[in-house]
Amino acid sequence: MRRPELGGPATVDEVTLPYFHDDYDPPVPSGRPCGRLRHLRQDGRERRGRAGLYSSDALLPDVFAGPYVEYQPDLAFVVDTGRRVAGYVISVADSQAFADWYDAHWLPGFRERYPLTEATSQKEREAIGFGLDPHEAIVPEVDRFPAHLHIDLLPELQGQGYGRRLIRELLAALHGRGVPGVFLRMSPANTGAMAFYRRLGFEELPSSRSDAPALAIATNADV
Ligand SMILES: CC(C)(COP(=O)(O)OP(=O)(O)OC[C@H]1O[C@@H](n2cnc3c(N)ncnc32)[C@H](O)[C@@H]1OP(=O)(O)O)[C@@H](O)C(=O)NCCC(=O)NCCS
Repeated sequence: MRRPELGGPATVDEVTLPYFHDDYDPPVPSGRPCGRLRHLRQDGRERRGRAGLYSSDALLPDVFAGPYVEYQPDLAFVVDTGRRVAGYVISVADSQAFADWYDAHWLPGFRERYPLTEATSQKEREAIGFGLDPHEAIVPEVDRFPAHLHIDLLPELQGQGYGRRLIRELLAALHGRGVPGVFLRMSPANTGAMAFYRRLGFEELPSSRSDAPALAIATNADV
């Protein structure tokens, strides 16, 4: 098999694909799965989400991946192993403009697909909540860091420098458009990801909270 290669721009199917693999089950320190998803769409069958946490495996991709690639496919970079896409970084250059677009174009369909009243668990209510209000996730420091990102690699690609390369690629693309910085929000349980971001030079924002970490980096940073 050839060495995995970076590519982009990506399609929605490519970036949502890693969510749908059986082996995508990154552990978190508590020993519980971190809520990323198992496969679903390859054979067109709906499956219940991980451990019954979500009614549909499409929910998290519909919140954290699909709208990004629909809105800004030129800021989605994938790692292609030659067999499949096994990782991505996705971003939007202007988080406020993205949230406005989301309200007008993504939210109506999302509301229909995921009625909050039919959520089957607290986890699912939380995930739908994120999908209902993209403005809520925008940090107060957004003027300095207008972009935001999500990054995910299947276990087979982790720990080999692909995360760093994807971030490097993204920062260069954002910098090339004159975007000064990029932020992200993350789960406080994901200590591995926190170590990764800190290692690359991301810093916690003044608005960051221990139960809701928010990190950011300038796009001219050398990662
Ligand atoms: C977090 C993630 C993106 C990191 O990408 P990666 O390719 O595994 O990381 P890299 O190999 O590029 O590592 C870059 C640096 O970070 C460090 N690092 C990465 N993961 C680390 C960890 N879990 N603990 C400590 N350091 C870590 C590496 O040691 C490396 O430092 P070095 O260059 O000095 O050796 C990837 O592991 C992943 O997708 N994890 C599962 C999904 C996830 O948690 N996404 C983030 C959600 S907020």
